[in-house]
Amino acid sequence: MTDSRDTWTTDARYFEYSKVVNPVGHQTPKCPLGDFEHCLHEEGESRIIPLDLSAQLKCPAPATSPNLCANFIRITPGQQVATTVNATSQLFFVIRGKGRTETNGEAISWTPHDLFTLPVGSATHRAESDAALYWVHDAPLLTYLGVRADAPRFKPTMYRHEDEDRELKKVQDDPRAASRNRISVLLANKNFTQTETVTPVLWAMYGVLLTGTIQLPHRHQSVALDLIIDCQPGCYTLLGESLDKEGNIVNSVRADWKNASAFVTPPGWWHAHYNESGADAHLLPIQDAGLQTHMRTLDIHFVHPNHESHISLK
Ligand SMILES: [Fe+2]
Repeated sequence: MTDSRDTWTTDARYFEYSKVVNPVGHQTPKCPLGDFEHCLHEEGESRIIPLDLSAQLKCPAPATSPNLCANFIRITPGQQVATTVNATSQLFFVIRGKGRTETNGEAISWTPHDLFTLPVGSATHRAESDAALYWVHDAPLLTYLGVRADAPRFKPTMYRHEDEDRELKKVQDDPRAASRNRISVLLANKNFTQTETVTPVLWAMYGVLLTGTIQLPHRHQSVALDLIIDCQPGCYTLLGESLDKEGNIVNSVRADWKNASAFVTPPGWWHAHYNESGADAHLLPIQDAGLQTHMRTLDIHFVHPNHESHISLK
């Protein structure tokens, strides 16, 4: 047995406080913007396509943000794809196609725009028709911690597309909808009443951006892995790190929305959505906001404190 004060000093380091008090942007890279187009899941063989920013993030395995990894899964008719990952939380959204997922002896049938969550475990996904799934999990967080998930915190949960649309329509038809920041439904699980999120880590929003409207800027410390479900040309998001006195985003970067495509909103960045197309558009941001809320660090802010920042372009 090694038992010496001297032996255990080899890994210890010391820095003057100001040198490393905030390593973000230095040793710790900032979260990059990502842009992942639908062609990734529309061509080629059945496979998992990680939306991988791990090189920019300096993560040792595929990651789209420090805590999460988003993927497209392409499955051609009659084929199947298996997913095995060390994660506490998995979310699947059906971009297109019909099929069935088997996990732990249970089966889940799915159709377009269904969303379902799975806890730790493997699954096999079989497609009846040409299919694509958006799969987000928290394996990068577990890799960072050096832990293995072994205790499911929830059971598989299905959010059927007809239920999502019914709930969204209720919100849209509410007379107060015009004065709200956005027309959206947050998906939750009855087991997580403190965070009101789909899993302990993941947060999911199903929303519509009405034609001719703007959702004025807001920001939060969670990273958003944004899937655009459907849109016409003319929808976009402006993103930036600060606001001017009038509440406009300074030095904004524009992310043009594309059907069945994804992009990343980095933590703390202000972002505003614009729909200058002639049709309503739907979006599904997935965030690590369950974890951020548990940590009391979500820190969400709106450009107008009363949240009345959903306005018409007309
Ligand atoms: Fe947001």
